Amino acid sequence: MRVLVTGATGLLGHDICEELGNRGIEFKGTSSKDFDITDKEATLHYISTYLPTVVIHCAAYTAADQAEEEPEICRNVNANGTSYIAEACRMINAKMLYISTDYVFGDTGNKPHEVDDPVHPLNVYGQTKWEGEEAVRGVLRKYFIVRISWVFGKNGRNFVDTMIKLGKHRSEISVVADQFGAPSYSKDLAILLCDMVQTEKYGTYHACNSGCCSWAQFAETIFNEMKMNVTVHSIPTEAWPAKAMRPKNSRLSMRSLEKAGFGKMPQWQDALERYIHCKILLINKNT
Ligand SMILES: NC(=O)c1ccc[n+]([C@@H]2O[C@H](COP(=O)([O-])OP(=O)(O)OC[C@H]3O[C@@H](n4cnc5c(N)ncnc54)[C@H](OP(=O)(O)O)[C@@H]3O)[C@@H](O)[C@H]2O)c1
Repeated sequence: MRVLVTGATGLLGHDICEELGNRGIEFKGTSSKDFDITDKEATLHYISTYLPTVVIHCAAYTAADQAEEEPEICRNVNANGTSYIAEACRMINAKMLYISTDYVFGDTGNKPHEVDDPVHPLNVYGQTKWEGEEAVRGVLRKYFIVRISWVFGKNGRNFVDTMIKLGKHRSEISVVADQFGAPSYSKDLAILLCDMVQTEKYGTYHACNSGCCSWAQFAETIFNEMKMNVTVHSIPTEAWPAKAMRPKNSRLSMRSLEKAGFGKMPQWQDALERYIHCKILLINKNT
């Protein structure tokens, strides 16, 4: 197996490269410095030269609020760029794993979304990630599409680090309490995704750590875990205006993942505890 990982300088791509390295699997992690995925010729050339047997496609335009102001730039990366990667995979008969998002769903109800539930993106980022999914389905047979949510990890901006930073200077903080989903540790996702690409169990999946919470509950758990004395005030989405609308129901059903035999991911509280433990070890090492 030879794996090409796009978005390797990002939060998830970094941990996937680390996991592949730990397993002794041959891989190459790429970013826009290696090739810009919106450049079709460069993308086809790079991939057909490296000749991977698997492409794990993590590169994306991920700034959801900014995307509302530059939808065509976002679409070019998330939809067109993804279609070029899919085309390259077809050319060389490689498997492709495309990372998608809970933002393909809208606000419907409070039940976990199944993989084949109707989509209803509320923002440009979610819409273009869905267009990326459709591009993959249109071109390939050997694909995995994996929707993930609320990712935290050591190689990128994330909610856990933001809360810890804010908690150092504040004793009270207001956090949205009517959006529900599951946090996901990039390290746990990386293990699952590396397992997945070694199978032929193609299809669409949801993957996040087990359990469910609101952003406010997530924040409270972070402060408890860090032993920081910060009071979290629960506020509705409307009190925290953002350019891009967010779904209130980001719960993702893991049924298809479990049915395929991939097993449950660890509880999000357990994942958070491990992440914070690593962070504290790192802080102590550097002081
Ligand atoms: N983070 C989350 O909470 C979350 C939630 C749901 C789904 N996802 C999905 O998970 C995947 C990984 O997200 P992430 O948070 O790890 O992303 P990230 O940290 O924002 O990193 C994005 C990566 O994409 C690369 N990239 C962007 N535009 C590119 C282009 N035109 N050509 C080549 N590379 C380009 C960047 O490379 P440079 O460094 O060169 O710019 C970077 O490596 C994405 O598909 C995202 O949609 C993330």
